[in-house]
Amino acid sequence: MSGEVSFLKPVASNPTTTPQLAAELQASVLLKRANVLQLLTNATQEFGSNHEITFANSMGAEDMVLTDIILREQLAIEIFSLDTGRLPTETYDLIAETEKTYNTKLKLFFPQAQTVELYVRTNGINAFYESIALRKGCCYMRKVEPLQRALAGKKAWITGMRAEQSATRTDLAFREFDQNNKLEKFNPLSDWTEKEVWAYIRMFSVPYNKLHNQFYPSIGCAPCTRSIAMGEDVRAGRWWWENADSKECGLHVKS
Ligand code: ADX
Repeated sequence: MSGEVSFLKPVASNPTTTPQLAAELQASVLLKRANVLQLLTNATQEFGSNHEITFANSMGAEDMVLTDIILREQLAIEIFSLDTGRLPTETYDLIAETEKTYNTKLKLFFPQAQTVELYVRTNGINAFYESIALRKGCCYMRKVEPLQRALAGKKAWITGMRAEQSATRTDLAFREFDQNNKLEKFNPLSDWTEKEVWAYIRMFSVPYNKLHNQFYPSIGCAPCTRSIAMGEDVRAGRWWWENADSKECGLHVKS
């Protein structure tokens, strides 16, 4: 299986994984799945009756785990994705594959056309490479503003973030109050490892973004995401020309 990244190797056929380790990993995934299901069930009891809870699905590996749990268990949680207009082709393919696999329709939110037109006319089509301010401006119009519309009228939202993903997420709680957007925020996968995410995807045959097969562990917009080298941080391919501590798009700001 040369060319395939280590985090994608199927648990059972990974030569470095003993049967006992594989069994331990599967047991830990099943336990954590049960915990996530409990958390989501409680959240729907609190917020589900009036469509007041929604899941922000980036179509990344973590979010596909949550998508699988929500749809398989038929939880009363709406799922939406922010289509920035600059997503990789593979992400659009995954949106289509997910809708087919689960016989569902994902709710897409787009940026405001006039804002994008003005930004591009003023700054250029790839202006985000020129400064952090222009990059953040682009993230704002393509993700943050559409997120505000997606969260309007909601009392809680769910993300697929994990604590070990980056320096900015180490203290990530399962539940917190999102001061910025003024609603409850659930991060059910906070304590999951990358290995557990991939074991889940294998165990439950969950569709995933084919870019993950090419050393892209974290995927955002096409021009702002690249593959990583062996040993690099999982988010090293996001806005790779910037410092690690500025690498957030503004969806998860703490005020
Ligand atoms: S982020 O900096 O782009 O937000 P990341 O890709 O790690 O980081 O995503 C973290 C979480 O933000 C995802 O699990 C998801 O809940 C939400 N998110 C990010 N991008 C999108 C998107 N395009 N659509 C919906 N939710 C998103």
